[in-house]
Amino acid sequence: MIRAMAAPADTTDTRFSLPQSALPTAWFNVAPHLSSPLDPPLHPATREPVGPDDLAPLFAQELIGQEMATDPWIDIPGEVLDVLRLWRPTPLVRARRLETALGTPARIYFKDESVSPAGSHKPNSAVPQAFYNKREGITRLSTETGAGQWGTALSFACAQYDLECAVYMVRKSFEQKPYRKVIMETWGGTVVPSPIDDPSHPGSLGAAISDAVRDAVGRDDTHYALGSVLNHVLLHQTVIGLEAQQQLASAGETRPDVVIAPCGGGSNLGGVALPFLPDPSVRLLAAEPASCPTLTQGRYEYDFGDTAGFTPLMNMYTLGHDFVPPGIHAGGLRYHGDSPIISKLVHEGRMEAVAHRQRAVFEANVLFARVEGKVPAPEAGHGIASVIQEANDATAKGEERVILFNYCGHGLLDLAAYEEYLAGDLVDEP
Ligand SMILES: Cc1ncc(COP(=O)(O)O)c(C=O)c1O
Repeated sequence: MIRAMAAPADTTDTRFSLPQSALPTAWFNVAPHLSSPLDPPLHPATREPVGPDDLAPLFAQELIGQEMATDPWIDIPGEVLDVLRLWRPTPLVRARRLETALGTPARIYFKDESVSPAGSHKPNSAVPQAFYNKREGITRLSTETGAGQWGTALSFACAQYDLECAVYMVRKSFEQKPYRKVIMETWGGTVVPSPIDDPSHPGSLGAAISDAVRDAVGRDDTHYALGSVLNHVLLHQTVIGLEAQQQLASAGETRPDVVIAPCGGGSNLGGVALPFLPDPSVRLLAAEPASCPTLTQGRYEYDFGDTAGFTPLMNMYTLGHDFVPPGIHAGGLRYHGDSPIISKLVHEGRMEAVAHRQRAVFEANVLFARVEGKVPAPEAGHGIASVIQEANDATAKGEERVILFNYCGHGLLDLAAYEEYLAGDLVDEP
């Protein structure tokens, strides 16, 4: 699309901040904007649609309600806003130096979610999940973590509400990122490698979910918290897109032409993209790893969310619940399935998906670090690789494309991966 340029307030501005008073006070619920209601999750034993009672051993009532809610907006409790205000609103940054490096007429903006205490977007959902569980009398949460970002976020959130936090971390990441354990323990969490019953297994998110669910169903004081995939998690993340809408306006933009984010289970992508869904002129793009190509090569069908088959079945893109992805460094993207919301949008053609290989991702990350200064999480690099493709395409077509992407996390605890890349030892998995 070629449009007349809407000039920003100042042609050198790179940072568009919002006052704390502009923090959204309600989450955007995408349910009323979908072409039809989502297919219901099915009980793992009966294969009948699950009801709230089936989910009660795992989740707070309020979260179960949000999972099925059809109201267009859902108020954010004041106690949650008080914690989100520690780092939100996050900046919107115009990546002018990346634009110059690419020699593109595209205008590239990123939402900087790396400024949260945990260094990623994940606390946006960890905080409300911890809050609602605390309010309902739960004293302990169990969870899985891939790259370590979600476990870090939940440990932080549990510390805010005085809850215990038990984290099952995918063994490969546990070994790759020892400092993740330290930061989780600093906030009071406990961390064990998963699968707990097979020390020779590299682990997968699906297996870690099984470990965490098994923990929660075995104890009355414990609920389970999931860091992605579910509708309520994407709902909590919509603060990203809602803030970005205000910030793009202050940058002089009417809308982005394309919104891009990496996709593991779909939470940061949903967070930045779903508030733009009602505008059909905004393209939405998911970036995933070629070695775990759920959206680009998976099947759209009912499957379990975990490896052992404890969780409800969801209609989603899946590589099969027993799929064990190669041990790539973007641990947060190594999930066999995907959010039912994201899956439906891709299935219906409303959202596009592309896959990137690991070396190309690190090439994009190093370029980004050298021109913009920030060292991205390996997950974020999938989005950046797509941004570069979009910008180069805009250059080839002579278009002033407005690109918005979610900078979902920093890579300062992922430096072993950078070390491998810089030494020329990082390989592309098959
Ligand atoms: C920094 C970062 N980005 C992206 C993801 C992928 O998850 P999601 O697709 O839910 O945003 C993760 C998951 O751990 C992550 O840590």
